[in-house]
Amino acid sequence: MPEISTDLDLAVHYLKDGALVALPTETVYGVAGDATNDKAVANIFALKKRPEFNPLIIHYPHITFMNQDVEITELAKKLANAFWPGPLTLVLPRRQESKISFLASAGLDTLAVRIPSHPMTLQILRNFGKPVAAPSANPSSKVSPTSAQHVFDSFKNNPLLPLIIDGGACHVGIESTIIDLTVPIPKLLRPGKITAEEIKNLTGIVLENQSHSKSNPKAPGQLKVHYAPHIPLYLNCTAPKKDQALLAFGPHIPKGAAYSLNLSPSGNLNEAATNLFAMIRLLDNDRYASIAVMPIPKEGLGHAINDRLKRAAQE
Ligand code: TXA
Ligand code: MG
Repeated sequence: MPEISTDLDLAVHYLKDGALVALPTETVYGVAGDATNDKAVANIFALKKRPEFNPLIIHYPHITFMNQDVEITELAKKLANAFWPGPLTLVLPRRQESKISFLASAGLDTLAVRIPSHPMTLQILRNFGKPVAAPSANPSSKVSPTSAQHVFDSFKNNPLLPLIIDGGACHVGIESTIIDLTVPIPKLLRPGKITAEEIKNLTGIVLENQSHSKSNPKAPGQLKVHYAPHIPLYLNCTAPKKDQALLAFGPHIPKGAAYSLNLSPSGNLNEAATNLFAMIRLLDNDRYASIAVMPIPKEGLGHAINDRLKRAAQE
């Protein structure tokens, strides 16, 4: 059974030993291992039952440590200055001399890198002194975790995860925005808290939108089925049935559902993102026939919320 703890030295000790540790980030909890250690990386894939063609994000405490692994382009520097530490991942050209496990990057000649902003995890990364590979700490294709308890619930019987660092609830609540900077026109591979509009305002660049590709081998994590609860989930519901659980949004809630939770009674998209995965987990109960989700505005952070919901939903 994994220990839930706030002992940062213990986390560093386990990482040095090649063991896995679940860490809090501002987006979701990640399951971290030494990114230069093939065995540790293999255990991440085994723990999550993740297909090995789906590459991992590599996490650093500071941009200076990235230099040995990736080419930091001028555009990358600009985005880094504006958004790191924070919920942004950049796909950059991998350097030949990089010691990152090829298993972590699925053999690609690129690496996805980010600097998370959670102070406990930054401290662990600094003290560990090496980059860590860290996908979201959920079984592959299931709902992402936004609390230590969520991680515990998924892996309580798995000896591959000895330690979960409890850093409280994740305040962003959905995974980082991923931008591929290795192509002529930068591509948005996964929408997140940092929006295409913000990137355009900062750089003048209009990102190509790649996030709905069904079979793009460059971003296999963008495959359609993802974030799936156990019971079916339906989108754009305005009239819930009496055996359904309603995931509501905003002040005007339709009547009729067996039970409901509201992502944001005031209609605030930041609040809705923070609550999204935790509320899906709470409604994912055999007591209900399915989860019905009210329409979420397709603006700003709403793009990322709709992206996750679409992947969690039934056809
Ligand atoms: O917010 C986050 O990014 C969280 C926290 C823990 O940092 N991590 C996360 O990791 O969401 P994961 O493994 O669930 O998603 C990683 C995504 C996948 O969609 C994967 O395909 C993509 O990153 N990815 C990784 N390396 C890539 C690469 N070289 N090129 C394109 N996509 C890549
Ligand atoms: Mg994930």
